[in-house]
Amino acid sequence: MSWTAVTQIFHSLFRVSASLSGDVGVLHVLESEANLDWVLQNGPNPPYMVILDSTLFTRSVMMKLKTGSSRVAGVVVVAPSSNPAEGFSPHTTCPNENSGVYSESYDPALAHCNVTKWNPLGNGLSYEEYDFPMFSLKDDNDTQAIKQCYYDHNHVVNGSSPRYPLCAMQLYSHMSAVTDTATCMRRNGINFSLNPETVCDPLGDFNVLASTRPLNYTDKGHKTGESVVIAAARLDSRSFFFDIAPGAESAASGFVTLLAAAHALRNATQDAQPNRTILYAFFQGETFDYIGSSRLVYDMDNKQFPLDLDNVHSVVEIGQVGLHGESKLWVHTDPVSRRNSSVNEEVEKLIRNLNSSALNLSLSLQEPSFSQPLPPSSFQRFLRARPIPGVVIQNHNSSFTNKYYESMYDNAEYLNMSYPPNLTPEEQLEYVTDAAKALTEVATIVARALYTQAGGSDPIQLKNINADSQMVTQMLYGFLVKSNNSWFQQIVPSDFAIHLRDRPTNFYVGVTQQHSEPTLLVQYLLANLTGTTVNITQDNCQNQREDEDDKESKHIYSYMWVQGAAPPNSTERVAFCVRSTVRLSKALSPAFDLEEYTSKDYSTWTESRWKSIKGRIFLVASHELERPIRPKPTTPVSRTTATKEPNNRNKTG
Ligand SMILES: *[C@@H]1O[C@H](CO)[C@@H](O)[C@H](O)[C@H]1NC(C)=O
Ligand SMILES: *[C@@H]1O[C@H](CO)[C@@H](O)[C@H](O)[C@H]1NC(C)=O
Ligand SMILES: *[C@@H]1O[C@H](CO)[C@@H](O)[C@H](O)[C@H]1NC(C)=O
Ligand SMILES: *[C@@H]1O[C@H](CO)[C@@H](O)[C@H](O)[C@H]1NC(C)=O
Ligand SMILES: *[C@@H]1O[C@H](CO)[C@@H](O)[C@H](O)[C@H]1NC(C)=O
Ligand SMILES: *[C@@H]1O[C@H](CO)[C@@H](O)[C@H](O)[C@H]1NC(C)=O
Ligand SMILES: *[C@@H]1O[C@H](CO)[C@@H](O)[C@H](O)[C@H]1NC(C)=O
Ligand SMILES: *[C@@H]1O[C@H](CO)[C@@H](O)[C@H](O)[C@H]1NC(C)=O
Ligand SMILES: *[C@@H]1O[C@H](CO)[C@@H](O)[C@H](O)[C@H]1NC(C)=O
Ligand SMILES: *[C@@H]1O[C@H](CO)[C@@H](O)[C@H](O)[C@H]1NC(C)=O
Ligand SMILES: *[C@@H]1O[C@H](CO)[C@@H](O)[C@H](O)[C@H]1NC(C)=O
Ligand SMILES: *[C@@H]1O[C@H](CO)[C@@H](O)[C@H](O)[C@H]1NC(C)=O
Repeated sequence: MSWTAVTQIFHSLFRVSASLSGDVGVLHVLESEANLDWVLQNGPNPPYMVILDSTLFTRSVMMKLKTGSSRVAGVVVVAPSSNPAEGFSPHTTCPNENSGVYSESYDPALAHCNVTKWNPLGNGLSYEEYDFPMFSLKDDNDTQAIKQCYYDHNHVVNGSSPRYPLCAMQLYSHMSAVTDTATCMRRNGINFSLNPETVCDPLGDFNVLASTRPLNYTDKGHKTGESVVIAAARLDSRSFFFDIAPGAESAASGFVTLLAAAHALRNATQDAQPNRTILYAFFQGETFDYIGSSRLVYDMDNKQFPLDLDNVHSVVEIGQVGLHGESKLWVHTDPVSRRNSSVNEEVEKLIRNLNSSALNLSLSLQEPSFSQPLPPSSFQRFLRARPIPGVVIQNHNSSFTNKYYESMYDNAEYLNMSYPPNLTPEEQLEYVTDAAKALTEVATIVARALYTQAGGSDPIQLKNINADSQMVTQMLYGFLVKSNNSWFQQIVPSDFAIHLRDRPTNFYVGVTQQHSEPTLLVQYLLANLTGTTVNITQDNCQNQREDEDDKESKHIYSYMWVQGAAPPNSTERVAFCVRSTVRLSKALSPAFDLEEYTSKDYSTWTESRWKSIKGRIFLVASHELERPIRPKPTTPVSRTTATKEPNNRNKTG
């Protein structure tokens, strides 16, 4: 018996139930859809572990495999090295269809994406359940070795059945999943004598917030005289496979723009404060029925936040704003709340304000037809609570221009982040790409509009509000190429620096009480870009105070002790303290606080706990597949991936 190590990182997905010993199947490399007959009917050695190239990762093929799942041990998708030109989205055509504002009761004509199917390419694969594990592999030498094992041992020549020994593959991915959230949460509450473990966790993370004027976070509820403009973007994304969620357009284009706008506004909002406060809000978990925004609205409604909804003047949300060479942005608004003349007046003012912010820039802003509802957006959760004036800025008029919505292809390549050849990583970090130049313009427009929206009226200040393309390009690099770069290293605390990675950030939302990597990165960036450095000791900084006697500052500021840079002739970093108004606020669906696990109002997504994910290939000498051969302990056969524990998302209803 020979063994071949599989050393790739496996990207897992969905598992409803799997045996602890893993799933074993005879390898079958699917060459065409017609070739499925072998897997589903004719092949004499089921179950099969099906390897397919991304061109065959279609709804049609996957639905056939799902139907014939008794003969399928698992599916491995080989990811291509470049994006498919025709587009691919495993999401639904109507994202967050039932959790936005457009319900039957709000306006039946606008419900269910009746007017615009936002994501026409969506094939819904991410929302199907499969009875077998699925993984993706990069198309590299190891994957070639797996395919070669198939061609050497299992390939059918002239219709004759292949003979033992056959090449087989085993995938381990134990999931503790139970049928749905309600069942799972009930089970979590009971102590089993044999299995005391939690079996699933609510999806949830933290929103990142900062305000241009400090808010007293100890003092919750309405603040008399306070009026805030919320500037929002979403922080998360997903794809079919859990640990690849590059979200370049769906998340990063918007939140990087908002970070750059916040930076551009630092001086203007410190020197002569405009009358209204700008609250920057980066929402987590929006992909899964607006977890983050629904939580903030809930907290505002329930005196769990230093402001309430009466304090909210208006909302400016930045959505997918990658320009791909276009020079137009679309300002989306809600036709229903605009039927109220006072709301409409404020919305028109806001649009004029955005439009004049674009004067002398190469971008123009347009409004979609008046009868079109808002695209999927966090703002919808505010509108569910009350008619607040607001806009959502996007790069599309009707359907998304994003061909890769919530897929592994929504990446740096899609945003046209290209670098001249032969640059060192350090040179790439600083190279200003065209994508960065375009987003810088968007950020300038947003920043100027926010200044005016907050009541700022100094024309000289206004003119000086300009986003910095250097910052934008560095952020795009840090999130979409690699977070382990010299800039990010300087602005994070040393205990977080070890988590920086030489790969794109995964924007998949965390589970309960987990701070995901993007949440923390945005927190540190926002502090650096909007805060100030203070010359205080590490001890005071980490204890949230200016000096030993200071008991007040912690209510309104947060302090972070970050690594800093090493001076030119030293290897020792000079750490320092950053004071800012940056806060994290819970992005956990209120459904779990309310124990309403079948809620129609709030997200109820949970994720199964799972153990390590590994895989190996080996030759089987005879028909022993039902009793998997145990790996020899000495053989280096596998490697685990995961740092967090997602998987099977079980949704109720
Ligand atoms: C949208 O909904 C309205 C009212 O329910 C209905 O009359 C109309 O036919 C629908 N339009 C589409 C395109 O489905
Ligand atoms: C893949 O195989 C080729 C040819 O055998 C070899 O040149 C190359 O270095 C290998 N790549 C890796 C990453 O092992
Ligand atoms: C398969 O069949 C064809 C035609 O009958 C024959 O030419 C070829 O040699 C066969 N190949 C093998 C490997 O038996
Ligand atoms: C469940 O078990 C843990 C420790 O195993 C214990 O701390 C906890 O109180 C138990 N909960 C209930 C509801 O029995
Ligand atoms: C913040 O609010 C708390 C609770 O009301 C109060 O004790 C504290 O003095 C306030 N701090 C500041 C700086 O306003
Ligand atoms: C803010 O002001 C400082 C000095 O007053 C200046 O050096 C800096 O460039 C300004 N920043 C921005 C983003 O305009
Ligand atoms: C319009 O909205 C405002 C603010 O929400 C509200 O006070 C007013 O009553 C509404 N007017 C109508 C006609 O509904
Ligand atoms: C912005 O202004 C231009 C011309 O000044 C106009 O054509 C365009 O329609 C305006 N856009 C919006 C969204 O009002
Ligand atoms: C802002 O505040 C100043 C001083 O309190 C006041 O004079 C001005 O009218 C206010 N501006 C707006 C737009 O409310
Ligand atoms: C932000 O980070 C840079 C290092 O890249 C540092 O020079 C600057 O002082 C930092 N600013 C704040 C407010 O933390
Ligand atoms: C920081 O504070 C220390 C002690 O008060 C002082 O010696 C030092 O010069 C200050 N550094 C700066 C850059 O102001
Ligand atoms: C660092 O090097 C420069 C010249 O390269 C020198 O002037 C300076 O004194 C050095 N600083 C330290 C702390 O050694």
